[in-house]
Amino acid sequence: MKIVVIGGTGLIGSKTVVILRQSGHEVVAASPKSGINTITGEGLEEAMAGARVVIDLANSPSFEDKAVLEFFETSGRNLLAAEGAATIRHHVALSIVGIDRTDNGYFRAKVAQEKLIKASGIPSTIIRSTQFLEFLGGIADSSAAGNIVRLSPVLFQPIAADDVAAIVADVALAAPRSGIIEIAGPERAPFNEIIARYLKAVGDPREVVSDPEARYWGGRVEEHSLVPLGEAHLGRIGFDEWLRRSQAAA
Ligand SMILES: NC(=O)c1ccc[n+]([C@@H]2O[C@H](COP(=O)([O-])OP(=O)(O)OC[C@H]3O[C@@H](n4cnc5c(N)ncnc54)[C@H](OP(=O)(O)O)[C@@H]3O)[C@@H](O)[C@H]2O)c1
Repeated sequence: MKIVVIGGTGLIGSKTVVILRQSGHEVVAASPKSGINTITGEGLEEAMAGARVVIDLANSPSFEDKAVLEFFETSGRNLLAAEGAATIRHHVALSIVGIDRTDNGYFRAKVAQEKLIKASGIPSTIIRSTQFLEFLGGIADSSAAGNIVRLSPVLFQPIAADDVAAIVADVALAAPRSGIIEIAGPERAPFNEIIARYLKAVGDPREVVSDPEARYWGGRVEEHSLVPLGEAHLGRIGFDEWLRRSQAAA
C-alpha cells in the first residue's frame, strides 16, 4: 500500500517511515527538503497519486503563537484539500493530550488542526499523545531562568518516540476510528520530579523548583491537565530504559 508520511524526516516521522517500510509498504517520506511542502502546496498532488493513507507528522518551524497557528491551519487546509481530490482512505494525525483543557498558543494551533480534520469528512484517526521523553530537555530550557527550572507538580506521563512511532504505524494500517485515541508513557509522576530526574541523569546542574503557579508554555495547568483522563494506550519504554537507549545511541 502507498502511504504518505508528511514530516517524514522528523523525530516521529523518520521512525514511522522505517517501521512501515519494514512491513513492505511503499512510503513517501514527505518534507520540504524532498520537495513536498504543505504550506506552499508544492509536490502534494504528485505525492497523493495512488496513495491510500496519509499520516500527518509535520511540525511548525516556529512555536511563536501566531506563526504556529498559521502553520497548522494552512498546512491542514492544503493537505486535506489534496487528500480530498485523491483516493485517501485514512488520514492519521498526531496531536497532544489535553490540548482542549490547557490554554497556550501551541495547543490552540493543534485544536485548529483537529477541527479542520473533523470538518473535512475524510475518514480519520487523531492520536493524542503526551509529551515525548525526547522533549524533556526542551521543556527544562523553556521553564528555566538562570539555574532555576520552575515547574508545577502536576501529573506528567511522557512517552518515548519509539513507542509513539510504533503506535502511529499500527493505527495507520488499521481502519479509521473516526475519532480520537490517547497514548501515554508507562509511568506517571509529578512533572517537576520527572524533569529533575532527567536533569540529574544527564548531569545538568540546574535546580528544579516545584511551583504550583508555574505555567506550561504560558498556560495554567492543573493536576490532570497533561495526562489522559480516560483509557489510554500505553507505551512500553519507561524512563530508565529510554535513558539507557538514548545514551547508548549518543
Ligand atoms: N513534542 C511533543 O512532546 C509532542 C507531543 C505530542 C504530539 N506532538 C506532535 O507530533 C508531531 C511530530 O512532532 P516531531 O517532534 O516529530 O516533529 P519534528 O521532529 O520537529 O519534525 C517536523 C517535520 O515536519 C516537517 N515540516 C516542516 N514544515 C513542513 C512543511 N511546510 N511541509 C511538510 N513538512 C514540513 C519537517 O521537515 P524538514 O525536516 O524538511 O524541516 C519535519 O519532517 C507534531 O505535529 C507535534 O505537534 C508533539
